Amino acid sequence: MYDLIVIGAGPGGYEAAAHAARLGKKVALIEKQRLGGTCLNVGCIPAKTFLRSSKLFHECAEAAAFGVRVGSFEIDMPAVVERKNRVVGTLIKGVEGMLKRAGVEVITGEARLVARNAVEAGGKRYEAANILLAAGSRPAVPPIPGIQSAQVFDSDSIFGLQRVPKKTVIIGGGYIGLEFACFFNEIGSQVSVYEMLPQIATGADQEISSRMLQIMKRKGVEFNLSAKVLGIEGDTVQFQAADGSKGSVTADCILNATGRSPNVRNLGLEEVGVDFSPKGVKTSDQGKTNVAGVWACGDITGRRMLAHAATREGIVAVNNMFGGKDRIRYQAIPAVIYTHPEVASVGRTEEELKTLGIEYKKSVVPMAVAGRFLVENEGGSGMVKVLAGAKYGELLGVHAIGDGSSEFIVAAAAMVETGMCVADASEIVFPHPTVSEALREAILGVH
Ligand code: FAD
Ligand code: NAI
Repeated sequence: MYDLIVIGAGPGGYEAAAHAARLGKKVALIEKQRLGGTCLNVGCIPAKTFLRSSKLFHECAEAAAFGVRVGSFEIDMPAVVERKNRVVGTLIKGVEGMLKRAGVEVITGEARLVARNAVEAGGKRYEAANILLAAGSRPAVPPIPGIQSAQVFDSDSIFGLQRVPKKTVIIGGGYIGLEFACFFNEIGSQVSVYEMLPQIATGADQEISSRMLQIMKRKGVEFNLSAKVLGIEGDTVQFQAADGSKGSVTADCILNATGRSPNVRNLGLEEVGVDFSPKGVKTSDQGKTNVAGVWACGDITGRRMLAHAATREGIVAVNNMFGGKDRIRYQAIPAVIYTHPEVASVGRTEEELKTLGIEYKKSVVPMAVAGRFLVENEGGSGMVKVLAGAKYGELLGVHAIGDGSSEFIVAAAAMVETGMCVADASEIVFPHPTVSEALREAILGVH
């Protein structure tokens, strides 16, 4: 009998398992594939290693502007993939060691709930007072004829690509679509993005997503917004453009980046009566499902499909299951799109504040107010927007575009999480010269 069985060893599951074990609980973690989940194996880390390579390649091309002459250089995709595998391997070993030190029993197998306190995996039955569902998500498959053909990549298969495509078509202009648009554009592929909505990075503050669109277009990425992909045949994608006209485009790389679906199938949820839909397992802000003793965290809940959200949700669930009181504040979870330039945000967007009827004041400054931004970026543009309550000046949202913003957004998240006011935030000392000084300037600009 375990105190806790966790199903799935992604950043939600493995962190929760380690946290519970460190609290002295008897914990088993069941994983059907490799430790690390989507994030380590085919998500956050692989995408960022690819983007590091493309950034370096792009920097070689731009080096003359910094007074550096570079001879001939080329992208070596097998080496890019090999480096990605090396980085992933090192991190997986790190997770393995961390779980061992914490005292978590790791079991390999596909787990399925058979009762509210029992799981089956590899033909064996395991019992626990608590079960945490952390089975993650998988690439969504929209109803587009031909999308499942072997020629269409998804975010799992794309990380094995061994060549630079001449032409890349990306379906979806969200997180994955934009990060890969940046990657392929930087390594010299001609990129076209087909997005069904009228904007990219839906959910981001609109001023930021418009700036992102401008910058990516300037870099050479073609965007087709409000476009409908009608079908895929071989290397040809048929689409309907915003004006209703039909067309087709051929590409030697087609990527489906149309979202992710929570892994709610084959888990025994129906048998045990766990409330779920294709959009995910329903949870409270404490991580509880409707069935006592069954908890859920991460992508399987479909709430915020981010690694750090999964981790926080898992830890909150563990704290609550063992008598503590904890809850997640979704409003204070930062998000970053790791394109070049990066987009980083936390809290409410201006559009959300308007919809909610919350009165606010705002300040927008160019990133170039920070000397370090100019030092690091040649011809780079970017901005930071701060939104604060009209009456008390409490920080409600921070939205930034520009390299370096992924590192300083955590400071903004701390301010939003604690409900800090502009007056108090203005007293914080920011190191000089750092890109974070743009955030300071934006805070000082709120009147
Ligand atoms: P997962 O990481 O999906 O892990 C779930 C695990 O459960 C898997 O290992 C799976 O094999 C296992 N499993 C499933 N069913 C069973 C079963 N029945 N029995 C046993 N094991 C099972 N997020 C960020 O915050 N930052 C990023 O930069 C970022 N980049 C991304 C880039 C890409 C290309 C993708 C696809 C995603 C990215 N994400 C990023 C999202 C992030 O990967 C997920 O939000 C995160 O991995 C979710 O963690 P999780 O623990 O809920 O699930
Ligand atoms: P997404 O939800 O971010 O974007 C999917 C996009 O595809 C949307 O804009 C949607 O309108 C569009 N779309 C859907 N169906 C379409 C169709 N038939 N034709 C054209 N466009 C269509 O999902 P994405 O990019 O697949 O990423 C999945 C999740 O993974 C993200 O929501 C995010 O939570 C996570 N992620 C996080 C990253 C990060 O933190 N940097 C990086 C990559 C993924």
